[in-house]
Amino acid sequence: MTEAEGRGRPVELPEIPFNVAAVAGRELEYIQQAIQGGHPASGGEFTRRAAQVLAEHTGAAEVLMTTSCTSALELSAMLLDLQPDDTVIVPSFTFTSTALAFARQGAGLVFCDIEPRTLSVDPQHLASLLDEHVRAVVVVHYAGVACDMEGIQEVLAAWPEVRLIEDNAHGLFGSWRGRPLGSLGRYAALSFHETKNFVCGEGGALVLNDPVDVDRARVLYDKGTNRRAFMLGQVDKYTWKDTGSSFGLSDVLAAYLLAQLEERDTIQAKRRTIHDHYSAALAPYAEELDFQLMQVPEGRESAYHMFYVLLPGRDRRNDSLEMLRKLGVQATFHYLPLHTSDAGRAFSVRETECPVSEQVSDRLLRLPFYNDLSEHDVDRVVAAFLDTASATLRDR
Ligand SMILES: Cc1ncc(COP(=O)(O)O)c(C=O)c1O
Repeated sequence: MTEAEGRGRPVELPEIPFNVAAVAGRELEYIQQAIQGGHPASGGEFTRRAAQVLAEHTGAAEVLMTTSCTSALELSAMLLDLQPDDTVIVPSFTFTSTALAFARQGAGLVFCDIEPRTLSVDPQHLASLLDEHVRAVVVVHYAGVACDMEGIQEVLAAWPEVRLIEDNAHGLFGSWRGRPLGSLGRYAALSFHETKNFVCGEGGALVLNDPVDVDRARVLYDKGTNRRAFMLGQVDKYTWKDTGSSFGLSDVLAAYLLAQLEERDTIQAKRRTIHDHYSAALAPYAEELDFQLMQVPEGRESAYHMFYVLLPGRDRRNDSLEMLRKLGVQATFHYLPLHTSDAGRAFSVRETECPVSEQVSDRLLRLPFYNDLSEHDVDRVVAAFLDTASATLRDR
């Protein structure tokens, strides 16, 4: 992109990337300590401290640091002890892992549509999908905004055996009615992938909110052994007890993550500022240029994971993306509905209609969003987006 310089000579402006994984402060120092300490495997001091931050925030019975959010979801799927004919309800508009983790553990999938305010599970559709085969419902707090928890809790009140699992890949440090996201389900999975608010390259955590799950989860987490009980001095040797896998996050990555978690107030404040800036700058043009801004409905504090807009249809969204790229702004779309994917069809037990997921997938456009995105660059993105929105409006 070019811009007139003071002396009238055009200059190339650098591209504004969609995401940059920021360094918050003490990452390298902590990583060095983790390596020099001589115990870089999982279960070290940094792992303990990172888990403690997360447990204190959510009030969880236990937090297990995992290699990814996907693996945390897999661990939660193992905890369900799925039997033949058991099903799990998942949203169609989500990342593959939300569904894959349960499918590979043997669950039949049932895809639920989303509702247009939060782009998360639609309680009305959920109510129509529940039956005696359903073992769990997985919800996503899309973009870091709590789903319709009230509606979902009302529906699930009639099905007390069905477990609620939060895929909280986007929502760490967001809240619903003052309660932290990640504390609302029986389990919650977190992501520290480089695209998230808090990163360590690849990483995750499983939050266990019911103490009844803790002992078994520790065994599944540690290759099916009671090694954790041995380390705590509860047994005098450890052996193979159950199914499981190697879920533990290396202490080197936990060190990276802890440095980020320690800066959580600063990181979240920066992200909030960017979110509010986009909102305030775009809102006055939304009606005239025919687009919708993402909403944060009452009673919610967003985790400020992303900022998205909805254009009226797929063609206008795609034209906008292309024009933005030409203007040096890396905006992007998001999930393709899982119920229409090859694997989604193969793993689902029956066809369901998810029209809102399909429409939103066609209409959604995410703007660049990362901790160190400068005010100047937010203004550049806003100006470029408004240009494309008005050009694509004229072209219709
Ligand atoms: C909603 C959701 N769940 C799960 C994941 C998977 O996270 P991870 O890469 O940590 O396995 C993602 C990834 O972006 C996601 O968006």
